Amino acid sequence: MNILAIESSCDDSSAAVIQNGTLLSNVVASQLVHQQYGGVVPELASRAHQQYIVPVVDEALRSAKIAKKDLTAIAFTRGPGLLGSLLVGTSFAKALALALDIPLIDVNHMQAHVLAHFIENPKPQFPFLCLTVSGGHTQLVLVRDYLDLEIIGQTQDDAVGEAFDKTAKLLQLSYPGGPLIDRHARDGNPDRFRFPTTDMPGLDFSFSGIKTAFMYFLRDQTAKNPGFIEENLPDLCASIQATLIRMLMQKLRKAAAQTGITYIAIAGGVSANSGLREELQKTGAELGWTVFIPRFEYCTDNAGMIAMAAHFKALRGDFCPQTVSPMPRMAW
Ligand code: KG4
Ligand code: ZN
Repeated sequence: MNILAIESSCDDSSAAVIQNGTLLSNVVASQLVHQQYGGVVPELASRAHQQYIVPVVDEALRSAKIAKKDLTAIAFTRGPGLLGSLLVGTSFAKALALALDIPLIDVNHMQAHVLAHFIENPKPQFPFLCLTVSGGHTQLVLVRDYLDLEIIGQTQDDAVGEAFDKTAKLLQLSYPGGPLIDRHARDGNPDRFRFPTTDMPGLDFSFSGIKTAFMYFLRDQTAKNPGFIEENLPDLCASIQATLIRMLMQKLRKAAAQTGITYIAIAGGVSANSGLREELQKTGAELGWTVFIPRFEYCTDNAGMIAMAAHFKALRGDFCPQTVSPMPRMAW
């Protein structure tokens, strides 16, 4: 079984080939056009997907050494994501499946982030908890089986990736700011500044308050000293990063205590954060968790994770009709 998977939900154009559950290729073209605008411009993202999709698919097939005629199914991200971006991947997948007369598999992007854990060893055992943290979502997921996933907590406003990117913007860093905060934080003191945080009931999160508190804090400090950001950049990055990680870890600990589950995973773009990875290792050692942290390339958006999810759906015969359309707010 050879599946070609396509990911085009946001600003990464990606294609991958999986053969009977083994990933043969995973090609990602990150769109650099958005950097100059300080965030993803949806119209430019869909245009860039149109430019990249053919070369990215060709390269994925070439490096997997799989010809189009040997494909068994075409998978694609149906949602959640930007409508225009999703349309490019969906239309391409539908056209190719029709031309090759093979079935289509629609994949939920957030479920795929979790299932990225099955690309490589060690693979988590069921049931496990996955903290999925990306630019658009922050979810605590109880994973009972490959396709039996339940969201037990989530953000009620901004995603944590958005909090990273927006605070980075306030610090005059470019987009995406998450990796830049991570880099500067390595040279800073995480205890230098304290910011007020919002504690939501249960296992839910809220990140809009911290962003606003940070904005007012910077406004007041720069009014007193215009060079404040420049003079304190590493400490500011380390302190805001530590605050965001504390907020995530507090709910993760709570979810683990409530469910009694000790297999704990992280997924999504923010799981590439070195501070979060370290903190998870430390907490895991302290509480006797077995932790699962994906390789960097499987944290941020990639078609390899779409291919992995598609593999499990194909095993179940879970295909979708040619009339399928993208779902920007796809739930599960
Ligand atoms: O999963 P992803 O690639 O795309 C979405 O589905 O949203 O996540 C992108 C997010 C962005 O907010 C980006 O700033 C954040 O992941 N991110 C990081 C790091 N690498 C990526 N945030 C903090 N530290 C990082 N090292
Ligand atoms: Zn993502």
